[in-house]
Amino acid sequence: MFGRDTERFGMGLRDRLTKQRTKPVGSSEGANPAASSVTTAPEGERQADLDVDAVMLEAEALAATGAHAQAVDLLASAVRDDSSGNHRLLIALLDARSAAASAVEGQPREPWPPAYEDPFPDVVGHPPEIDAADLTAEIMGGAVIHHGSLIVRGLFDQKATTRCKWAIDMVQEHRSASEPKPGGRKWFRPWPGGTTLDGVLRNNVWEQGGTWLADSPAACSIVLEEMKRSGALGVVTDHFGERPLISLQKSTLRRSAPEYRITAWHQDGSFMGDQARSMNVWVALTACGGDRPTPSLQVAGARIDDILPRDGGLVKSSISDETVIAASGGLPPVVPLFEPGDSLIFDDRNAHRSYMTEGMTDFRYAIECWFFAPAYFADSYLALLA
Ligand SMILES: [Fe+2]
Repeated sequence: MFGRDTERFGMGLRDRLTKQRTKPVGSSEGANPAASSVTTAPEGERQADLDVDAVMLEAEALAATGAHAQAVDLLASAVRDDSSGNHRLLIALLDARSAAASAVEGQPREPWPPAYEDPFPDVVGHPPEIDAADLTAEIMGGAVIHHGSLIVRGLFDQKATTRCKWAIDMVQEHRSASEPKPGGRKWFRPWPGGTTLDGVLRNNVWEQGGTWLADSPAACSIVLEEMKRSGALGVVTDHFGERPLISLQKSTLRRSAPEYRITAWHQDGSFMGDQARSMNVWVALTACGGDRPTPSLQVAGARIDDILPRDGGLVKSSISDETVIAASGGLPPVVPLFEPGDSLIFDDRNAHRSYMTEGMTDFRYAIECWFFAPAYFADSYLALLA
């Protein structure tokens, strides 16, 4: 029953949007590396007179019938077509993602974990790697379950990389401003209604150059759109067997300063809960890794199946070097090289830490995007439909 209503609401509006999309892009939009603000309207076209109120009403009508995912998709489509980057539309999209996550009835994949073959039987001691065109759920799942992580070269193309990096700069600019700037709320709006602990965690992340993705309606829209366009969202959906959630507290825009500090080995599963089904799509937006002068990521040399003792002593979740190496069968950890747009994909068992050495000179931009299977979400987090 909902399907029929969904079709009627959704297609009607989409027809109207298509008819309205006729006006060519003017040169006034050209300086923006995001090519059309917070949209991805095809180059040479833009939405002329998007009726934001009509779109929002249509989305509300969809949600009222229980078609929450379609409401999200409708709003996301309108955001793509809206060259003005209307802040009400962006916030409505985030709200719709939250409502959709609350309403989702998970139909989890069973049995779990899936029985993936090892696609890289000859790889030992470092993450296997593929080109973005070769990414499938079987390759991703097989690499993660047998090797701990997978490097995907060029997951984000140059346009996506430039756009996301620009979005992080916009978030930084608006968040750092001593006085609110016009349009600021779409770039930084702390999620309303969080707990006191959320406030503390948010500040901790900010002190290290990070902003929670869902604290920026515009950046959240951009990143999830690029996750979809790159194919990553589809592959994670195939892996879980259902459309995933993200969380307020675990998806982060990172602009990491080259400031040396001691960092802790950890497994995110040690604080997400044992049952959570997760996959982190981490994307480098600047060149990093190896002996480059930028912060990067260091990962264990092998797959670790268990949650390890938290014997690091640095923070509550930290694991000692010795325990990580022993759990990796004696293999040393590695600091993979990443070019802009390259991704490292791993789940909650992977032992990793930020990699920093003294004398680094350059900032590192990256996106950390944890996806969760809805039926096995980390309950202490606030959920949003991806
Ligand atoms: Fe982590």
